[in-house]
Amino acid sequence: MIPIDLKGRKALITGGESGLGAATAKSLAQAGADVAITYHDAPEAAEAVAASAKAFGVKAAVIRLADVANQSDVTALFQWMDQEFGGVDILVNNAGIDGVHALCGESDPVAWRRVIDVDLVGAYNCAHEAVTRMGKSGRGVIINTTSVHEFIPWAGYSAYTSAKAGLGMFSKTLAQEVAVQGIRVIAIAPGAIKTPINAGVWQDPKGLADLDAKIPMGRIGEPDEIGHTIAFLCSDLAGYITGITVAIDGGMLLYPDFRHGG
Ligand code: BGC
Repeated sequence: MIPIDLKGRKALITGGESGLGAATAKSLAQAGADVAITYHDAPEAAEAVAASAKAFGVKAAVIRLADVANQSDVTALFQWMDQEFGGVDILVNNAGIDGVHALCGESDPVAWRRVIDVDLVGAYNCAHEAVTRMGKSGRGVIINTTSVHEFIPWAGYSAYTSAKAGLGMFSKTLAQEVAVQGIRVIAIAPGAIKTPINAGVWQDPKGLADLDAKIPMGRIGEPDEIGHTIAFLCSDLAGYITGITVAIDGGMLLYPDFRHGG
């Protein structure tokens, strides 16, 4: 058996109180990492995730991150990480929003920019703090959560697709910068996964059928399928992987409409 072994690693997961972040915190803890979880407005949910992480015998703690787009909030978060955990070896940039559906001409420019700020600037803010610490220790992994919409246009969500495409290129550029310091940077592109962000779609039978039709594997994904992949990518088993986007999408990126015709 080849184990995924993250014993002694200190992991920080933003937006860890629900969905992919919660599943990731659990998977990293299961692999032996100590986990710090940031939440925005659901402290009880975050505490419940920390409790399930602790059940694997690791240290787990939660902290409120008021605004990932605010550099001083993020600096304070990393100072807390230094004090509570003694540094950071794994950063999972998971916090994100998709915004409201609005075509470009009808969208609110302030709301549009907010999606870019949270999804792209927020990930930059955390990476900015993480790389200096990881550079000193000579090891580290940064996982940036993009989406299949790093690649697939999505009408009504141009801020989200732009932020995710930007985050994909940020990941590659950062990977190139920090490889020599022993830091790996990997983007993951989840497809449709059963989380609160898209519950309005998968809880509706018609929405679910439409979603399933867009996925060659014919089903939406489970949060654990993201958490498990992230645990592997953070481990030394994936020690030669950096600077790419790993799709975890049941084949959504494969243009399923082209199974026939063309
Ligand atoms: C979005 C989900 C959506 C999925 C596939 C994700 O990035 O957050 O709402 O279902 O992409 O379209």
